[in-house]
Amino acid sequence: MPKNFLEVAVEIAQEAGKILVEELARPLDIRYKGDEVDLVTQADKRSERFIVERLTKHFPEHAIAAEEGTGHESASASEFRWHVDPLDGTTNFAHGYPCFCVSIALAQRDTLLAAADATLSTSLLCTGFPVRNRKASPNLQYYGEFTQCSHGVRRDGSAALDLACVATGRFDGFWEFGLQKWDTAAGVLLIEEAGGKVSDFAGNPYKLGGPVVLATNGLIHEEMRAMAMEISRRAPANP
Ligand code: IPD
Ligand code: CA
Ligand code: CA
Repeated sequence: MPKNFLEVAVEIAQEAGKILVEELARPLDIRYKGDEVDLVTQADKRSERFIVERLTKHFPEHAIAAEEGTGHESASASEFRWHVDPLDGTTNFAHGYPCFCVSIALAQRDTLLAAADATLSTSLLCTGFPVRNRKASPNLQYYGEFTQCSHGVRRDGSAALDLACVATGRFDGFWEFGLQKWDTAAGVLLIEEAGGKVSDFAGNPYKLGGPVVLATNGLIHEEMRAMAMEISRRAPANP
């Protein structure tokens, strides 16, 4: 990400993070977005209002895709688009579990601008489960099998933070089905810039919003990918 964009994004993310910490101490106003566990709180909305307002002020010509729907298309068909998750880990936040973050990324057309153990058996992995259509998710099978062939699989509940943890090397690999662009855009770039690898299970480059993401330190990518494909083969309805 060009420096000016990056500086602005970091400053806005830090300020939005302060809003979340402030809101954590306040009584919760939780709403359900659907009929499952897809929650939204006043913190998601306040953080998003702040981020969209600030980005628009700095870059009025850019498009903004924000999870809670307050983003906008660009006025001048700009090729720049911000992907904003104002609070990734809302369920954790709503339960007072301090594992959540703000995720902001900038893409120019489809390009995002802005290690570790060498084997799967000694790796610490992470995954997540969807908040919608939970019963249709194939992930329990993958969760079980990856648990048995690694040091373990964590389920922390913030995909953006999980990806950032792969970039820093705390986790060696992460996979999840059905994530949205704002969940993954910033974290994918962090991993790529840190020298890791991000793809789908077939090894094709990950497309933002694609059905499954596999993100690793690079070293265990092929091993994890092959195992994911093997699990998919045994359960052919899965992606
Ligand atoms: C959720 C988190 C979670 C993932 C869910 C996402 P939200 O985002 O990233 O880790 O498993 O699929 O929806 O709703 O807290 O922004
Ligand atoms: Ca999210
Ligand atoms: Ca969110």
